[in-house]
Amino acid sequence: MFDLTGKTALVTGATSGIGKQQAIALAKAGANIVAVGRRADRLSETCEKVNAFGSNAVSIQADLTLDTSLEKLAIDAASHFGAIDILCNTAGVNLRQAVDDISFESWQQTIDLNLAVPFFLGRLLVPGMREKGWGRIINVASLQSTRAFANGLPYGASKGGISQLTRAMAEAWSSDGINANAIAPGFFPTELTAPVFEDNAALQRLADNTAIGRNGNMEDLDGITVFLASDASAYITGQVIGVDGGFTAK
Ligand SMILES: NC(=O)c1ccc[n+]([C@@H]2O[C@H](COP(=O)([O-])OP(=O)(O)OC[C@H]3O[C@@H](n4cnc5c(N)ncnc54)[C@H](OP(=O)(O)O)[C@@H]3O)[C@@H](O)[C@H]2O)c1
Repeated sequence: MFDLTGKTALVTGATSGIGKQQAIALAKAGANIVAVGRRADRLSETCEKVNAFGSNAVSIQADLTLDTSLEKLAIDAASHFGAIDILCNTAGVNLRQAVDDISFESWQQTIDLNLAVPFFLGRLLVPGMREKGWGRIINVASLQSTRAFANGLPYGASKGGISQLTRAMAEAWSSDGINANAIAPGFFPTELTAPVFEDNAALQRLADNTAIGRNGNMEDLDGITVFLASDASAYITGQVIGVDGGFTAK
């Protein structure tokens, strides 16, 4: 039920943090990986890890917020192991600007990468999934999908948007066998959250806000990723699933 042998997953943000963790978890479950990100050395590292688990990996170096053609990326991605079965829309940015410092450009950069790319890339990969009558789209939401944090206005807007986009993707595509869900992580130690993880007092406060009593470990994301990518989640679509130690339950 959780076996991904013969499936191919495209993971954006595969060079670090959550995307890298997901790429490795999916590879351990048997999937081929198409890793996408800007940093070539980090892409190689991820591919090496994937290969170490006996799965195949290729990388595509791309800046998704510049003039990278998503059409070209989608064609390239499907040219290695066939049409993509699983899309992890994980690349994201949080510029953490004070409200008065937000420019149109920084707003646009955040909304483009965190919200527009998941939709447009998803739409490009849907025909290949539709032909197989099977597909999985996994978006990444956030505590900020439902909560407002300081210096997170465009980020929160993008993450509120991704929750609704997930439901809309499910409405549009799930009758073709393509399920779309989102993971909403609590606090996990990645480059994106490095400023938070440097502040021990803030970290402790965040841990205290969870029901479990700690912040996330990267491995906490493996189960949900494989679950949402596999047949085990056949009747689950349009859902935003908190992986936050109960932060949003308290
Ligand atoms: N960490 C958490 O606690 C947490 C909580 C909630 C939600 N999230 C979400 O999880 C996702 C991954 O974040 P993370 O925490 O793993 O942070 P991260 O380690 O900083 O990862 C961000 C990823 O996005 C890629 N990226 C950034 N700008 C890009 C661009 N212009 N073009 C292509 N790729 C780009 C980066 O790769 P390159 O730099 O190589 O391009 C990197 O792989 C994000 O959507 C974030 O909002 C994280």
